[in-house]
Amino acid sequence: MKKNIVLVGFMGSGKTSVGKRLSMALKAEFIDMDDFIEKREKMTVTQIFAEKGEPYFRGLEKELCVRFATGGGKVIATGGGVVKDSVNVKNLKEGGVIFYLKSSPEKIAENLKDDHSRPLLETGDKADKIREMMREREHFYTRCCDVTIDAANKDPDSMAAEILSYIKETEK
Ligand code: S3P
Repeated sequence: MKKNIVLVGFMGSGKTSVGKRLSMALKAEFIDMDDFIEKREKMTVTQIFAEKGEPYFRGLEKELCVRFATGGGKVIATGGGVVKDSVNVKNLKEGGVIFYLKSSPEKIAENLKDDHSRPLLETGDKADKIREMMREREHFYTRCCDVTIDAANKDPDSMAAEILSYIKETEK
């Protein structure tokens, strides 16, 4: 695997679950950006948003996009907001193939119904917030990706299998 595999998509679309499966199958290093940030800061994403603010968190994400852009051979699960920044996209694209896990508001709401770890979804009605944010974000994901994966109707195993077969085909 010459390039990085970069997974983008809305919160709760399955990036971490798919990323873990890909890294196991490919014996490649797995970078989960939120996880990396939480370990480095010794705080949860929720705490970082509350105590240091969203711009601080976005700055950390930006640093990681620079750090992991080159080198290849890694599986990277990004946070759902990474692609809003065009410099991040440029960096991730430079060393990676970008897969967009495209889900639906209904599936996301179902996946995240008992989850409280996404500060941006903790204000107001969750289903409304998901619909509104997905509408705002859709074009960022669509514009940056190389390949779109149907995350609304597929489980993480099938999504990982689809990405693996894409990689096998393109690296022939
Ligand atoms: C965010 C997505 C989250 C996390 C933070 C902000 C976003 O990551 O980075 O809560 O702006 O969409 P996941 O997509 O892994 O949930």
